[in-house]
Amino acid sequence: MPLVDMQPRQIRIVILSNAGGCGKSTLASHLAYLLARKKNTVVLFDLDPQGSLSVFCGLEEPDDYKQTISFVFDEEFDGQWRFKPVWTEYESKILACQSELISLLREAKSLEKQARAEYRLKDRLEDYPLAQDILIFDCPTTLGILSVNALAASTHILIPVQLAAKSVDGMTKLIDWIYKSCDELRLKPVPKIIGVIPNLYEAKRAGHRNFDAVLRKILREEQLKYFPPIRNTSELENASTRGKPLHVHRPTHKACQDFEPIVTEIIEYLKQ
Ligand SMILES: Nc1ncnc2c1ncn2[C@@H]1O[C@H](COP(=O)(O)OP(=O)(O)O)[C@@H](O)[C@H]1O
Ligand SMILES: [Mg+2]
Repeated sequence: MPLVDMQPRQIRIVILSNAGGCGKSTLASHLAYLLARKKNTVVLFDLDPQGSLSVFCGLEEPDDYKQTISFVFDEEFDGQWRFKPVWTEYESKILACQSELISLLREAKSLEKQARAEYRLKDRLEDYPLAQDILIFDCPTTLGILSVNALAASTHILIPVQLAAKSVDGMTKLIDWIYKSCDELRLKPVPKIIGVIPNLYEAKRAGHRNFDAVLRKILREEQLKYFPPIRNTSELENASTRGKPLHVHRPTHKACQDFEPIVTEIIEYLKQ
């Protein structure tokens, strides 16, 4: 009889979109907080040179290059993960690998000329495994080598979207890109699209209700999950600017509930 595989399951979620400002980093930081609150250990990877995730997590700029995601991509990486703890005042289970603009742009450029460029992050995680339950990759808006690395290293995909005319076309193109890239990268198993999340939703706006319905229909045809929307509220932006999750900044705010269906779904995947 083969021994039962006791290796705990690790979920690696890439947050992808081909539109800026639709809430990738907001989603990354809030999911990390909520999943940690449910006793999961989480590592947040910021693959966006803009580094908003650091701001949203209330972190100072990284003081050592070796603490950044750039060093993970660097040929000189020594296999030592040097994460920073996040929100230790109220959570002890979140760590972050921060980004730094100049060095990350440099590494991304140099990576293009190296072997297995698309698999550098995946290879690192295989060579130097992490014990945490959930890894979250926050990506830049451009679907370049950094996003491709995150996709190749992922097991699951989340797609936030803003409700606008261009989102409908953008969404179909992004899903095509994901399928095509998974195929070209020969990812096995193919990362699972957990679902699409409409963000910055305003129920009062007919346009939002209309695009919400259109996207819901497209996603049903694609047999992909379409989550209930996350509402547009300045308190979410205020919380992130202050480096806190909304759930700490305004614990009773209605929008706190908007993340729950996504968290529940991720926890279901963790159990499988
Ligand atoms: N539901 C929301 N309501 C209000 N502001 C939001 C919401 N989601 C995101 N934001 C704000 O919109 C801006 C872009 O969000 P961000 O998460 O940085 O997007 P991305 O990472 O996709 O570029 C940020 O200022 C963020 O605080
Ligand atoms: Mg971002």
